Parts: sequence; structure tokens; C-alpha cells
Amino acid sequence: MNTKLWAVDKEEPLKHSYPQIMEAAGLLKENEVVAFPTETVYGLGANALSDQAVLKIFEAKGRPSDNPLIVHISKLEQLTELVDNVPESAHKLMEAFWPGPLTLVLPKKEGVSQYVTAGLDTLAVRMPDHPIARALIEISGLPLAAPSANLSGKPSPTTAKHVEEDLIHRIAGIVDGGATGVGLESTVVDCTAETPMILRPGGVTKEELEKVVGNVDVDPALFSQEELHKPKSPGMKYTHYAPIAPVYLVEGSASFMEQTIKGAQLKGHKVGLLATEETIAQIQATEITAISCGTKNDFATVASQLYDGLRAFNATDVDVIFSETFPRTGVGAAIMNRLEKAAGHKFIKE
Ligand code: TXA
Ligand code: MG
Repeated sequence: MNTKLWAVDKEEPLKHSYPQIMEAAGLLKENEVVAFPTETVYGLGANALSDQAVLKIFEAKGRPSDNPLIVHISKLEQLTELVDNVPESAHKLMEAFWPGPLTLVLPKKEGVSQYVTAGLDTLAVRMPDHPIARALIEISGLPLAAPSANLSGKPSPTTAKHVEEDLIHRIAGIVDGGATGVGLESTVVDCTAETPMILRPGGVTKEELEKVVGNVDVDPALFSQEELHKPKSPGMKYTHYAPIAPVYLVEGSASFMEQTIKGAQLKGHKVGLLATEETIAQIQATEITAISCGTKNDFATVASQLYDGLRAFNATDVDVIFSETFPRTGVGAAIMNRLEKAAGHKFIKE
């Protein structure tokens, strides 16, 4: 398949990139699959009301069919054709965080493609805060089902180049709007339970949610590596976000990191280091491929650079990657969730 690439103005797409948006939206209306930027990561969009369109998403990504998709809207009115009996907690969360990196799991209405929900009776919905995503939803007039625009199992794409690496020739088009902002996927909250429950940590933190709706639970499966706990968000059970070389999470001081690196090098390994600029500056080691992911002064920079860092190792010859770890508060909860998945929960502790 020939994949069209459009460079689109991020700030005012309808003013400066109208023909490109019209063409991309036209393909979406023809039930084709198009990748586009959101404020979290790039999404792989298709008409959420068409079985045929939605199935193309699963095929392009190689996504397991039991993993449901998020539907993206640009106006609250679109909810009426998608969900029923929206609970009070969900209304409060929409008011506080939409448009933004928050996905709400709600009771679904008939008419949504059964493939979107993978047969569940709930639907995940989000209103993205990105002018290009919103323009495509508005011009196509469609709710867009969109998972992250990566091959299943790979880190989510935060640039159009990442999407190209994974999906060129597999999809109809890619709208290039530059790098995304948050860098990690949206927080997924199940609002169908008595107390709202975080199924996937993300851009909106537990602390922020609790300021709006009081107590918020966290799916116990997020703390467990055992198969015992079946996650309520089907996508959370798969190995994810992983580069080719194995990743180990190194917990301890910078000197412990240095010791760990040197130990592996003595055994003949080509070592990659994923760490903040502060930690990299403290490590004295030669022949190491160090990739910086932001600064300790602002963990939002780590979130936004994490996937690009993980992917960058694929262009190197490292055969093992050591990563710094982060406190699990605020956005750190989402960062550690993704790192643990990339590492398959492998820790080296001081
Ligand atoms: O930031 C994001 O959320 C990005 C951008 C493109 O919007 N999208 C994204 O989609 O990360 P995806 O498909 O990679 O992740 C969707 C997650 C999966 O873990 C899936 O299992 C979960 O949401 N999910 C979808 N529908 C669900 C439902 N009805 N109940 C529980 N979990 C659901
Ligand atoms: Mg994904």
C-alpha cells in the first residue's frame, strides 16, 4: 500500500493546512486508516462506526483482537451516539480534564462497532487536546477509534518518523504534526465501578483525579507481575513498549549504576544507558551508549522523551539496556509503569 505523508501545521491546521486535512479526513470517511498526532502519542485512526474500518486497524498493528480501542471525539454531543447512563463521576472528570490525556470507560451503546470494544459492554472514550486530532474528527464528522500508532509490542510513537518505522505501506496515510507533548498514553479510568478506578496510569495523575472526584482506586493488577490478577484493561497484560535489546531497571545510586554497567562490560556486553542528564553526567564509563531522557528537575520531560529514548537503542549495537528508575508519584507512576513493561519487570537493586 502507498502511504501518503502530509506535513501539517500543528497550531492552526485548518488555516494553514486545509487541503492536507481535507484529504486525510476524506480517507477516514472512506473507511481507510490514517495516523495522526494527539497530545499524548500518535494515534492510528479509523471510523469507529464501521466494522470494516476498525478491522483494518487491528490488521495494520498486528493487534490481538481481544484488546479494545479508545474512541476519540471532539464535542460532548458525540457521546450520545456512543455511551449510555454516564455516571456523575464521569461528568465531573470530563469537565475537569477534557480535552486532555484522560480516557473514560463508560457503558456502551448499540451501534459502535463490536470490534472497537472487543466484545466488552463498555467503551473507552477520550477527547484529545491536539488541534490536528480535533480537526480530523470535526472535518470527517466521525468518532475515531484510535490505538497508539505503533506495531503491537513496540513503544508508542511520539513522532511521525516513529509511525513510519512501524507502519509505512501498512496504512493509507500519516499526518505529520511534529512531536507530541505528553509522550505517554492517556490515563484510563473505569467510571462504571462505584469508585472510579485507574486501569492505566498516564498523563493525568491519581492525585489530580482525586482532587475532582475524591477517592480513586487503582487496578490491583498494575502492582502485580503475576498472571493471578487479570487486568481490567485488556491491553495491560501484553509485553509492551519494548526495544529489541533486553531492558533492566537499576534501582540505587549513580555509583551503583556505574558498577552495574562496568560489571556487564567485563562480561563482554555492549551496554546502553537510559537515564536523566544528571545521572549520565555522574557516570564514568567508556564505550557506553548513553541516551538521555530529560531532567530530574521535571519528570514531565522524562515522560515526553521516554519512548524516543527506548526506540533510539534499536539503531545502536547495544545488547543490554540499563535504565534509571523514578519515584512512583505523580507522572512517575506512569513512567515506571511503562518502564516495568519495557523491562518485563526485571530489576537490579542496590
Ligand atoms: O493516549 C492514548 O490513550 C493513545 C492516543 C492515541 O489517544 N491511545 C492509546 O490507545 O494508547 P491503545 O489502544 O494503545 O491503548 C488503549 C488502552 C488499552 O490498554 C486497552 O486495553 C484499554 O485502553 N481499553 C480500551 N477499551 C477498554 C474498555 N472498554 N475497558 C477497559 N480497558 C479498555
Ligand atoms: Mg498502545
